[in-house]
Amino acid sequence: MGTERHAFVAVANRLPVDRSDGVWEASPGGLVSAVAPVVREHSGAWVGWAGTYDDDFAPFDFDGMSLVPVSLSAEEHRSYYEGFCNATLWPLHHGLIVAPQYHRSWWRAYRSVNARFAQAAVDAAAPGATIWVHDYHLELVPEMIRAQRPDVRIGFFEHIPFPPLEQIAQLPWRDEILRGLLGADVIGFQREADAVNFRHAAQKLLGRDPEELNCRVGTYPISIDVEEIRAAAESPTVQEMARCFRRDLGDPDTLIIGADRLDYSKGILHRLWAFEELLDDGRLDAERTCLAQIAVPSREGVRAYRELRDEVEHTVGRINGRFSSLGRHVIHYSHHSYSTEAAVALYLAADILLVTSLRDGMNLVAKEFVTARRGRGGALVLSEFAGAADELDQAVIVNPHDRVGLKKAIHHAASLDEEDARTRMDAMADTVAAFDVHHWARAFLHDLREAAPAPT
Ligand code: G6P
Repeated sequence: MGTERHAFVAVANRLPVDRSDGVWEASPGGLVSAVAPVVREHSGAWVGWAGTYDDDFAPFDFDGMSLVPVSLSAEEHRSYYEGFCNATLWPLHHGLIVAPQYHRSWWRAYRSVNARFAQAAVDAAAPGATIWVHDYHLELVPEMIRAQRPDVRIGFFEHIPFPPLEQIAQLPWRDEILRGLLGADVIGFQREADAVNFRHAAQKLLGRDPEELNCRVGTYPISIDVEEIRAAAESPTVQEMARCFRRDLGDPDTLIIGADRLDYSKGILHRLWAFEELLDDGRLDAERTCLAQIAVPSREGVRAYRELRDEVEHTVGRINGRFSSLGRHVIHYSHHSYSTEAAVALYLAADILLVTSLRDGMNLVAKEFVTARRGRGGALVLSEFAGAADELDQAVIVNPHDRVGLKKAIHHAASLDEEDARTRMDAMADTVAAFDVHHWARAFLHDLREAAPAPT
């Protein structure tokens, strides 16, 4: 085989690197900042797709990790990633906001790509190793590894919500998916409600309790690298960037921001509709208020994402047409990705962050915002349907479907008493600091060690 063997192996759809002009570069992102330190600490391996098609890259070392690329063809990317992952499982796990599509050819591709990831993990794992599998792209992998390697510990973490019984029951391959997950020693979810849904599905659809199968189901809310965000917030360059943003946005009295992947689960349209009505009612003054919305391009090979982009951009255009004056936009919209520094600068510049997800595993933007704003006040408007709402209960909590309630919440956030705002923000920042991403990884791996003691 020739593959080096490791005592710790992380498995995720993407490697923590991108290839640009033939050179590997670290790719930023929540999962990378969460898992890379653990891989490094154990001189471990990371199994994942390199982001290019039909390449057969050999394993290589990068930044203290051994990276094991899994190859995908362009057709597999369409049927496995865009198809089964993002047009079947994603909407199924996010409350059917758009209708999931069920295609047998996509399912076959998902199964065979999962088998390839499982084999790469099996080959990279030393006897008695710990293998940590991540997210909905790889739900069959735990059972596939288990079939070949009874000696290893297997953890699975689901980064997105787990659907209630009557929704997961739609999936023609629900039993295979549940059995795939149950191959793990520990399955972690973001919220208690997700763990409850999973247990219920296993009991009703397979007639089995996970615990009976020696599978521990737990809740481990993911978090952020607090030190990284704090360092950015204290950086003079980032603070200068924040001042420039605010000035370039016309120095409004109230700067409201949104920062999301352009995904229908984020409720971007819902916040735009509420904002438009507040301007209409005169409860927000178009001359003194500005909304800056960053929309990070995402999954544009999937039709629902292209349609959403059209609708968001049409709506932004309409609101600007109605309420902007020459030389002064009421909404500043950008469809680009952005660096951590730019994001933190925007958090520092802002008065209010709107997180109006219709369904969201956690929402790390909310956690970054409160961390950056410790000691600075401001307000977080947070959907009750985001996992973060369980911990950030000092936010202005909203149901984004309730237009009247959302408008009231935005208006309330814009007029919070400064002292009250600061107290709430600091309490939320302290919660995030106490349960940061390192705490998340430690808690999960601790339970994995307890659930599956090392073989003797
Ligand atoms: C969610 C998923 C991640 C995924 C990310 C970005 O947070 O849980 O696994 O990587 O979205 O989506 P993308 O399709 O661009 O990887």
